[in-house]
Parts: sequence; structure tokens; C-alpha cells
Amino acid sequence: MNKLPKHVAIIMDGNGRWARLQGKNRVKGHQQGARSVREVVEEATKKKIEFLTLYAFSTDNWSRPKDEVSLLMKLLVSSLKKEFNRLITNDIRLKAIGDLNGLPNGVKEELIYVIEKTKENKGMVLTLALNYGGKEELTRAMKDIAIKVKNSIISPENVDQSTIIEHLYTQNLPAVDLLIRTSGEERISNFLLWHIAYAELYFTKTLWPDFKKEDLQKALVDYTKRERRFGKTSEQLTS
Ligand code: IPE
Ligand code: IPE
Ligand code: MG
Repeated sequence: MNKLPKHVAIIMDGNGRWARLQGKNRVKGHQQGARSVREVVEEATKKKIEFLTLYAFSTDNWSRPKDEVSLLMKLLVSSLKKEFNRLITNDIRLKAIGDLNGLPNGVKEELIYVIEKTKENKGMVLTLALNYGGKEELTRAMKDIAIKVKNSIISPENVDQSTIIEHLYTQNLPAVDLLIRTSGEERISNFLLWHIAYAELYFTKTLWPDFKKEDLQKALVDYTKRERRFGKTSEQLTS
């Protein structure tokens, strides 16, 4: 049996469909989804998960209707304000990955405020992926490395995996152990491409607004039963 995962990442999907099933506006789905975030964060803290990374807004989500995008941005600011005390009491350190400069000023400011105020916390690291795209992250890293090579700060022979990791948004995050996606879709949608190289994937049909602590517990139990071989044989692992 595996130990519990150190790093859990979640693609929180299905808010829109949840709302449609209730005959409501997509907005309601996102609001209900924010409640799932609260419950899952709380449960992950209790389970002593060290790193929880949540896909909250992708670079491609800007192509949604303007009203939905602006609602999501507003919801983000209000959730950060509302959850602030809980982050402090639970000793959670907030982080963000993605192109934060592309976010509206209000969102960026609130985010930076909470990151700053929680940076000395010693508990779980909660990372929000905002205006995040895995390909964008890798492209940016390659560009930064190319510039450093050009300026003779790095020699090309010395470029290795750690050089690449150091240039990712996720530089201080360990590899993902368990990647959960809700809503029945079985795809990555440009999330954490580098760090999911050996992640165990867990797909559930449950829509994100219905995903509660029992669902997280189920995913964690499922993970403990997987055999992670990292290229080796099963015999090598059991001997
Ligand atoms: C996930 O739910 C939330 C975000 C992408 C911001 P969706 O809004 O994608 O819900 P569906 O996939 O349309 O049901
Ligand atoms: C992925 O969900 C992004 C987030 C959960 C923030 P999407 O709903 O945007 O993904 P696709 O379009 O179904 O692949
Ligand atoms: Mg979706």
C-alpha cells in the first residue's frame, strides 16, 4: 500500500453542468463550486496532505462569455476575502501559479495580499492555478533559459531537468502524486504538464459542486492501492 500522496492536484470541472441540471445559471455552479473548495481544502489539511494544487482558471478560459469570466474573477476576490481567516487558523500557505500579470488588478492585489500574509504559515501549501497553461509555462521556461544561454549565464551543456524545473512557475512544488479530475471528462486540459509525468490519475463522474470530503477520501484510498513502478518491474518493488 502507498502512503497518502504528498501532492494532490485537482481539475475542478463540472460547475456549468451542475447548474444546468438544476435549471440554474452557470454562475450558481461556480458559487456552489467555491463551497466544495472550502470543504476539500479543510479535509486535505486534516489528512495532512502537504501540497494541494487547484486548477481554478486556465489561459483558455478567457474565451468564455465575458459575463462568466468577470463573475469568476469577482468570485475569486470574494472567496479570498471570505476564506482568509480560515487559511490563518488552518496554518495554510497560499501560493499561485500562472501568469498573474494577466489577471485584473483587483484579483492580483488580493491574491498577493493573501500570499504575503500566509507566507510564514507552516501547514499545507495551497496553490491556485490562475491564468495557468502548461504549454505556456513550458514555453516561458524555455525562453528564459534561451536568454540566459545567450547571455552566457547558463552553458547549454549544463541544461538538465533541474534547470527546467527552476524556470517553471511550479519550481517549488514537488511532482504531483495524485491528479483528480471531476465531471467525467478524462483529459488534462493543459494542466501541470511537467509535474504530472508520473502522477496517478483519478477520474470521477461527480461534478465539482457535488465533490465533498467523502469523495476526496475515496480518491485517497484508491491511490493507496495503486502500484507506482516508475519504470521498474513489480518484482523489483516487492523484493
Ligand atoms: C469548472 O467548471 C470551472 C472552471 C473552468 C472555471 P466548468 O465551468 O468548466 O463546468 P462545465 O465543464 O461547463 O460543466
Ligand atoms: C479545465 O476545465 C480548467 C479548469 C478546471 C479551471 P475546462 O472546462 O476549461 O476544460 P475543457 O475545456 O473541458 O477541456
Ligand atoms: Mg469544464
